[in-house]
Amino acid sequence: KLVGILNGPNLNRLGIREPGLYGSQTYESLCKDWKKTAHTLGLELVLYQSNHEGALIDTIHRWADEGVEGVVFNPAAYTHTSVALRDALASTDMVFIEVHISNIYTRESFRHTSYTAPVSRGVISGLGTAGYTAALTYLSGQ
Ligand code: DQA
Repeated sequence: KLVGILNGPNLNRLGIREPGLYGSQTYESLCKDWKKTAHTLGLELVLYQSNHEGALIDTIHRWADEGVEGVVFNPAAYTHTSVALRDALASTDMVFIEVHISNIYTRESFRHTSYTAPVSRGVISGLGTAGYTAALTYLSGQ
């Protein structure tokens, strides 16, 4: 089964960026862990990160055309702003699991709204980077 992990803006700076909120592990190191986890779960994994909304949308369309069945998606700040990303998710048959490293509901009120959650299968928020592993495990059972 082919699945993807898609990360939005500023997540390339994990490990450097506000480590108290997002942890000290770098994006590159997380990618290595995700590949290992996917292998253990018997999943084939594609990874992508971008700071650009259009590039994320293009990747969603491309993955859908390439037969990706499920996507672990952290839209980062675009969660709270992007109708275009929400429409991109709704334009495919892929299963999306929305993941946030921090608990967005304990933070500023502008983070309490997610445009993408209503078109996702479920949302994991506040479990740190363990949320990605939990989402991969869920997808492997689908
Ligand atoms: C985030 C939460 C968002 O509010 C924020 O803009 C991010 C990261 C998280 O993983 O906790 O960039 O999606």
